[in-house]
Amino acid sequence: MSLAPGTAPLHWEGGGTSRIPFAVYTDEELHRKELERFFYRGHWCYVGLEAEIPEPGDFKRSVVGERSVIMVRGATGEIHVVENVCAHRGMQFCRERHGKKKEFVCPYHQWSYALNGALQGVPFRRGVRQDGKVNGGMPADFDPKDHGLRQLRVARRGGVVFASFDPAVESLEDYMGPTILRYFDRLFNGRQLKILGYNRQRIPGNWKLMQENIKDPYHPGLLHTWFVTFGLWRADNKAELRMDAHHRHAAMISTRGNALKADTEVAQVSSFKQSMQLHDPRFLDIVPEPWWGGPTAVMTTLFPSVIFQQQVNSVSTRHIQPDGHGAFDFVWTHFGFADDTPEMTQRRLRQANLFGPAGFVSADDGEVIEFSQQGFEQKPSHRALAELGGREVGETEHMVTETLIRGMYEYWRKVMEA
Ligand code: FES
Ligand SMILES: [Fe+2]
Repeated sequence: MSLAPGTAPLHWEGGGTSRIPFAVYTDEELHRKELERFFYRGHWCYVGLEAEIPEPGDFKRSVVGERSVIMVRGATGEIHVVENVCAHRGMQFCRERHGKKKEFVCPYHQWSYALNGALQGVPFRRGVRQDGKVNGGMPADFDPKDHGLRQLRVARRGGVVFASFDPAVESLEDYMGPTILRYFDRLFNGRQLKILGYNRQRIPGNWKLMQENIKDPYHPGLLHTWFVTFGLWRADNKAELRMDAHHRHAAMISTRGNALKADTEVAQVSSFKQSMQLHDPRFLDIVPEPWWGGPTAVMTTLFPSVIFQQQVNSVSTRHIQPDGHGAFDFVWTHFGFADDTPEMTQRRLRQANLFGPAGFVSADDGEVIEFSQQGFEQKPSHRALAELGGREVGETEHMVTETLIRGMYEYWRKVMEA
């Protein structure tokens, strides 16, 4: 294993990935290596949705790993992603989250860039004429073509935009693999998307914990009492867990039982309360949509940067933006489809109350991630146990397993130990 100086070798008890050393969440060197190997090399990262920048000149400031980038629509509808670092003296010149521009101008010394990042103008490039002579200016061999903004590779599919700092990255389709691509295309099947709104939250925990949270299909029925209280979660929900060939991405596919009432199965879960009713039952006014094709919820984790959520009528992207080993920003983009009826738009917005930083359900996830990180920092030489369903990695037809987490760390080890 190649390790940065000063980093103690990680000890994986049992040799597999069912016992995860806490150091993977607490070691700053490992964190920097993860950024290099997962976010900046060989992977596609989510940057946004095309619907966020419909017109030429529309831009959105986004993030790849810990690097600030700008996703912008060019004059002929193409999409560029450029690094938000001025080619002059390095300022992160773009401060707005969204906007519309004809060009980017760095405020410090007014270098200006075309929307594709090409350098256009440099004040005083040819110096300043004073008392009959020219003072200053850039050297004669200064060529603007060598001093544009760094351009990332861009891939678009179904209205979703990905970027990569790695010019040699494989195609987006190969990156997802056929299994995950099928679930991606189910949600993003070419319909025009409509942005409904954003949530942003900072979670004081390691970024991988959010991937783990969505690769952990059995905690909802235990942690999320809201789900159970109102009879939404049933131990007998039909479920499938699927992965790509590398085990880095996953899809958690579930189909709700028809009956929402108590039965013996649900009644065994202590927080189910048949007598409790929602004050406003419209939060659960669920209307099946043809494109679901059966499953009522599909949660897709695309490693390392994003989660695609379909939970009944609520659909969103959840962007993971690391900031050091012990924190990340989590940005939710709630969307719908341009041909939704006004009632469906309202329904999606109401159901979005389950999600986001203060969501009836998701608030719990932010907290357990924070408290997990606290446990790791307290006891950094210990390890987590992910042995539900065995110690192996494989797809299953049920949810009572931590196999997707083991799969993710199998991939993590392969890349980090190479
Ligand atoms: S740092 Fe941007 S123009 Fe000087
Ligand atoms: Fe959860």
